Amino acid sequence: MSALAYVPEGKIIGVGTGSTANFFIDGLASMKDRITGAVASSEASAARLRSHGIPLFDLNEITELPVYVDGADEIDGQMCMIKGGGAALTREKIVAAVARRFVCICDASKLVGYLGRFPLPVEVIPMASAQVMRALAALGGQPKLRAGVVTDNGNCIIDVAGLEIRDPVELETEINHIVGVVTNGLFARRKADVLLLGEAGGVRTIV
Ligand code: A5P
Repeated sequence: MSALAYVPEGKIIGVGTGSTANFFIDGLASMKDRITGAVASSEASAARLRSHGIPLFDLNEITELPVYVDGADEIDGQMCMIKGGGAALTREKIVAAVARRFVCICDASKLVGYLGRFPLPVEVIPMASAQVMRALAALGGQPKLRAGVVTDNGNCIIDVAGLEIRDPVELETEINHIVGVVTNGLFARRKADVLLLGEAGGVRTIV
């Protein structure tokens, strides 16, 4: 697992969520005695880290986070991403914002010319879901409430299909300004710093 090379010894590491992040967590277990611990971006990742005996830290307890390692649902050539397929986007964005370096790990199918083929997840305060869906439709998307999903923060997820995202920074800001939105899955202001792209011939590093 090439992402382990980005883990500094003796430090606390930010850890993402999802099937790719799970591989990283399992790899991190092999060097758990050489790190201080981890900050998790979801209850699911916290449980997996705990099962490996990796000490967990609350983000409010720490002052520095050298690296955050996570997957993505899509990433473009500018290292902007769509995340939140696993509904953990808000905590992911918070931990990523604190980290000095974001290492994104994903397979080649996630690298796209333009973001938006993957429906954009938006975390929303439940009482605002209908009005937020109307506002997202007005932006040209087709919003759909993710049935049966409650985030770790007690909110709902609206997935927005049909967006061809030419200006991810602007759209991230615009959606975050809709009242009732907690955050959206565009990571365009806090992009990845390093992409470890799994390809048929091995892992390609893009910085
Ligand atoms: C979790 O909310 C997401 O942001 C994941 O990081 C993203 O969906 C990638 O997940 P997979 O590694 O499972 O594809």
